[in-house]
Amino acid sequence: MALSDFLADLDALAAEAEAAFASAADGETLEEARVKFLGAKSGRLKEVQKGIASVDKADKPAAGKRFNEVKTLIGDAYDAARVKWEQSTKTAGTAAAFDVSVPGARPRLGRLHPITQTIAELTDIMGRLGFTVTEGPEVEDLWHNFEALNIPLEHPARDPLDNFYLAAAGAASGKRLLRSQTSTVQIRAMERMKPPLRIISLGRVYRPDTADATHYPMFHQIEGLLIDRHVTMADLKSVLRLFARSYFEDDVHIRFRPSFFPFTEPSVEVDMSWHDKWIEMGGAGMVDPNVLESVGYDPDEVTGFAFGLGIERVCARRHAVTDIREFYKNDVRFLHQF
Ligand code: PHE
Repeated sequence: MALSDFLADLDALAAEAEAAFASAADGETLEEARVKFLGAKSGRLKEVQKGIASVDKADKPAAGKRFNEVKTLIGDAYDAARVKWEQSTKTAGTAAAFDVSVPGARPRLGRLHPITQTIAELTDIMGRLGFTVTEGPEVEDLWHNFEALNIPLEHPARDPLDNFYLAAAGAASGKRLLRSQTSTVQIRAMERMKPPLRIISLGRVYRPDTADATHYPMFHQIEGLLIDRHVTMADLKSVLRLFARSYFEDDVHIRFRPSFFPFTEPSVEVDMSWHDKWIEMGGAGMVDPNVLESVGYDPDEVTGFAFGLGIERVCARRHAVTDIREFYKNDVRFLHQF
């Protein structure tokens, strides 16, 4: 076979293959064309290759070189056609699958924890009644948590089983604890300021209680303290009533039951009734003269009232939450409702 004939066959094949790949309308036709021209066993390229054997010996290198070039050419033509076809199916597929009427994915917005929201709301309500926020530390000393609050050394409220004392070496041992009540802030406020005084303090308190539907080893209290001349229990009751009415946005009744706290005399438990159900909200009373004296106030000059309510309690009551543990599970399905 003459070299020129062999080269002519190669060129004709290249042109034919390129045309076939370019015109293949779908994947199947393209695959058929690939087998027809490039097939390893009986493809047309394979057939033409056999012609090299009959070319003159001197022309074999030229024939082989051109054959390899054409082989690459046809291979590239096939690859290009394949890529083009794949891209066209992809675009067509997306266009068909994209339904503009499907609602978009709404981004989830975070929000404040219900207890944080309640703290903000209670602060606002008490602010309108003239009370300003005071803060105190969660790690307290014995003076502010007990001593100044008229809780003497032998008092059962100091029991290690009822408090989270902090472990410390030697003499410091048992000298500090996680505060068990926000009444500590009454002392801190009175130590810093002269009467008259009208403060609230909202924050965490800690008690080694077993967690159940109404208890948790950490919870929040709102403490209120008003010191002035001629303050009476009637003032206490009306402030608590205004407070409850604002928070529940409804007619709420307040009930006092006689009780005992070392730092108030007389002392009461505060119950609130909303939608005919009484719930215990916390404790209150008239500040004990011993407490006023411990911070250098004159009990003959001033009197005052104090109260401490459970923030989880009021929040749970308003939102009909029956288990306060829900507040601390951090289940977003629960939290998202507030
Ligand atoms: N500190 C009391 C408690 O934790 C509540 C209280 C506060 C009672 C202020 C009287 C006055 O239960």
